[in-house]
Amino acid sequence: MNTTRTGMMGFGLLTAILLITGIAFAADSSAENHTVWLSGLDLSKMTAGWGKPQPDLSIQSKPLTIGGKKFDKGVGTHADSVLYVDLRGTTERFSASVGVDDEVAGQPASIRFRIIGDDQELWNSGPMKAGEPAKSVDVSVKGLKVLILSVDPTSDGVAYDHADWADARFLTAADNPRAIDPPAEPETILTPAPAPMPRINGPKVYGVRPNSPFLYRIPCTGTRPMEFAAENLPAGLSLDGKTGIVTGKIAQAGTTIAVLIAKNAQGQDRREFRIVVGDTLALTPPMGWNSWYIHYNRVTDAIMRQSADVMIASGMADFGYSYVNIDDCWMVKVNSTDPEIGGPTRDDKGRLIGNKRFPDMKAMTDYIHAKGLKAGIYISPGPRTCAGYEGSFGHEALDAKTFADWGFDFLKYDWCSYGEKAGGDKLEDFMKPYQVMYAELLKQDRDIVLNLCQYGMGDVWKWGAQVGHCWRTTGDLGLEKAGNLPGFYSIGFSNAKHFEFAKPGGWNDPDYILIGWVGSAFTGGEGEKTTLTANEQYSYMSMWSLMAAPLIFSGDMAKLDAFALNILCNAEVIDIDQDPLGKQAKILRQTDREFVLVKDLEDGSKAVGLFNLDIVSQPLAVSWQDLGLTGKQRVRDLWQQKDLGVLDGEYKTSVPRHGVSLVRLFPNL
Ligand code: GAL
Repeated sequence: MNTTRTGMMGFGLLTAILLITGIAFAADSSAENHTVWLSGLDLSKMTAGWGKPQPDLSIQSKPLTIGGKKFDKGVGTHADSVLYVDLRGTTERFSASVGVDDEVAGQPASIRFRIIGDDQELWNSGPMKAGEPAKSVDVSVKGLKVLILSVDPTSDGVAYDHADWADARFLTAADNPRAIDPPAEPETILTPAPAPMPRINGPKVYGVRPNSPFLYRIPCTGTRPMEFAAENLPAGLSLDGKTGIVTGKIAQAGTTIAVLIAKNAQGQDRREFRIVVGDTLALTPPMGWNSWYIHYNRVTDAIMRQSADVMIASGMADFGYSYVNIDDCWMVKVNSTDPEIGGPTRDDKGRLIGNKRFPDMKAMTDYIHAKGLKAGIYISPGPRTCAGYEGSFGHEALDAKTFADWGFDFLKYDWCSYGEKAGGDKLEDFMKPYQVMYAELLKQDRDIVLNLCQYGMGDVWKWGAQVGHCWRTTGDLGLEKAGNLPGFYSIGFSNAKHFEFAKPGGWNDPDYILIGWVGSAFTGGEGEKTTLTANEQYSYMSMWSLMAAPLIFSGDMAKLDAFALNILCNAEVIDIDQDPLGKQAKILRQTDREFVLVKDLEDGSKAVGLFNLDIVSQPLAVSWQDLGLTGKQRVRDLWQQKDLGVLDGEYKTSVPRHGVSLVRLFPNL
């Protein structure tokens, strides 16, 4: 630490500046201390829910004014707003007059200012409204390392939340405090590596239609070589003992409980596998990968094959990931002159033509299927897809047949450009394109899971299961932030509300898991490493699993690292998502500081996620009473795969900034 006394020099300089600018204030009596205005710090590091923080002006660049009083110095910002300040070890005090700026007088603004020092709250203004006089604060920050200045929106949202840190200043004995980025969080891997013993993972129940091709690669971790066997497989199925791939066709409708067995030198695992031959597919949420958020309009046959290779080589398939899905931009682009993607969109019989990057779709799906994996494709019900490529409008029957002939097992059906041709805002208008395509898919001689991508219009969760297997409930997740929280939280909060509509065969889809190396649909490029913190990534995967969401990763398969794989591949977390009961978690509590989800599981246990939405760590708890439980419970931490003990009455723990505690509570019989 720099202990040189620069106080005198700093004070002298400051006095000179003050004389020049004519600003009067009561200087600290100690000649050793000098003032550093908050507005002099690098405000590009201060976040704001709207606009850009302004030095010595309001967020709308007007004089700072609170409750009729004007301030010459300070910072105008907007909730959510956070600034991290490195106090350099020599800062003594922070003081300010805070409040809602008068520029939103008469509007329903409501904000709370907080000053946090080394993860402890030093001061909290309580809710403040427009027109109220400023509240003064003067706190000692002596000995602290990092100060956080935070403006929260309170629970009514961020509308009109213009916030002023007026007259805000630090008093320091030596080094000037400086604005910093949030301290980096180490990417701590919480999940133990899979044991060498076999463990059979993935779904415990599986739906297939009579006489449809059956393809299932037993997801199983443990040292290879491994031998697979099965008891009570329905007639028509056979298992390759070396690869663990089950194939065949079952003629007879009905349910069979087979037993899957995996053996290696270390031991064996047996697991019941319920095969339900009937008309319902996707009895558990689909798991896989989609090309969109990393390859966009650059997707190729080679990328798809490579992604299938990695799904096996990385071990993802051993945890249950099975779909390898192309998104938009595999077709011919309407009116494009680019020889790679332009040209006739359909052949003389009206059949879709893949662009030059997809020379042979059937060969590609054969390649994927040979690994025991499944293949997915995308199109829009309108004349063009969202990216302007050929759509299905008017060709639905032939396109469904083409997808089946090509060997696809999954179709993502968008909405783009459909409104130009049909549209309307009645329920039947929203349902129509999906009814049409679903009916066509049912006529095919293979099973094709239908994913509706129409962003939640017409309350799709209420009817999606009649015309498909999973439905996006919101717009694109993307990489944007909502206030201090990354976008997956707001998408998750919205998706969580529709819990009662999820069931085996029909799932709410909050969009993809965007971690690892991902891109942005708007900026293109080859992507970059996620900016989500480690704890945010644990929260993301926990929330999606509790919500029984399709687990579709959409980052770069070729750049998966150990941390991303640790997030994607925790067998006990995936068990929550894939639980055969098929219930989506209910919201137990939601405030601006915490979010608590509870999911009932088939064996009578419950999964609970305690999400800390705050920028500081805080204790979070759930009581047995809240959960309708009585008696002692065995509490297991799912990320660490570790029993925390047998507890009575409640589970309480400290949860880090934007982190989660994901536990499973088993009755202690
Ligand atoms: C959007 C969809 C994205 C992606 C994109 C392709 O409508 O929500 O997930 O499929 O279209 O153009």
